Amino acid sequence: MKKLNIDIERFRKSAIQAIKEIKDATALESLRIRFLGRQGGELTEILRSLKNLALEEKRRIGPVANSLRGEIEKALEQKLESLKVQSSKLKVVVDLTMPGKRIETGHLHPLTLVEKEIREIFKAMNFSVVEGPEVETEYYNFDALNVPKDHPAREMHDTFWLKQFGKTRGGRLLLRTHTSPIQIHYMETHQPPFQIVGPGRAFRYEATDASHETNFHQIEALMVGKDVTLANFKFVIQEFFKRLFKKKVQIRLRPSYFPFVEPGLEVDIQCVKCDGKGCNICKESGWLEVMGAGMVHPKVFEAVRYNPKEWRGFAFGLGPERIAMIKYNIPDIRLFYSGDLRFIKQF
Ligand code: PHE
Repeated sequence: MKKLNIDIERFRKSAIQAIKEIKDATALESLRIRFLGRQGGELTEILRSLKNLALEEKRRIGPVANSLRGEIEKALEQKLESLKVQSSKLKVVVDLTMPGKRIETGHLHPLTLVEKEIREIFKAMNFSVVEGPEVETEYYNFDALNVPKDHPAREMHDTFWLKQFGKTRGGRLLLRTHTSPIQIHYMETHQPPFQIVGPGRAFRYEATDASHETNFHQIEALMVGKDVTLANFKFVIQEFFKRLFKKKVQIRLRPSYFPFVEPGLEVDIQCVKCDGKGCNICKESGWLEVMGAGMVHPKVFEAVRYNPKEWRGFAFGLGPERIAMIKYNIPDIRLFYSGDLRFIKQF
């Protein structure tokens, strides 16, 4: 009688190890066939060969080999189970029917939106959009606009002066305190008649509060022609506010002073929230102050070599922050640059 020429214990270890290392169900099935296959399965062969063993050997090895069969079957079954669990987890990851993750996209800043809207309205009224430098000389920011050197009006605008690098023809350098210098640049290089708007940043060295920022925006407007009058001005801004707020808006003109216009005006619109009844936005007055304006001063025309007897024009400057605050009911101008996403995401 033969002896079994195989070490059952070693076979057991390597079989269990092989099952452990399997990564997918197909490979596991081939392993099952390799060990337990009817034809030539390794364990099947061992069990088959038992009958040829001496009785003593049969008694010793028989039960071990039989229980090994059970053990391998169980290990295969458990492995199959765990592969199923894994693959179902895998499916969740690539489940194409799951709703997608929302990708955060940026959008235009509320001020950009408002400025764009304002530009579009003026463009539709045949105004051209022009721009000018943020770093200006004293000449463009003040002198050419009829603000003389020692005039108190220069103090009205608290100026950021820049350190001088060399001499400029226009005097000291500064950050423009308003967009009115755009008027001068444009008139120096163009002949009337024309109508333009000039959006841009302006800077003032002053304390900030809910309605003042050191850096803010303005939109300058200038219309020059042979017979431009305040009536044209009134029509243009009435039309502008009607298009902006999508309803007829009452306006009110009050006399005011700016050195570069004569007469100078302050423009109020009837509060668009309460229609003049009084509310938190208009501080119960029923009116909102929205722009400075006036007829171009003859001295300004002289500065750009236009004949003041021949040409007439109106100019105004309006603050998009102020317009945005009115339109969207924003209580504090500082919110625009706060970088607070809770604010920005509302637009
Ligand atoms: N530049 C003026 C300001 O900043 C506004 C203004 C513009 C007034 C044009 C009259 C005409 O306050």
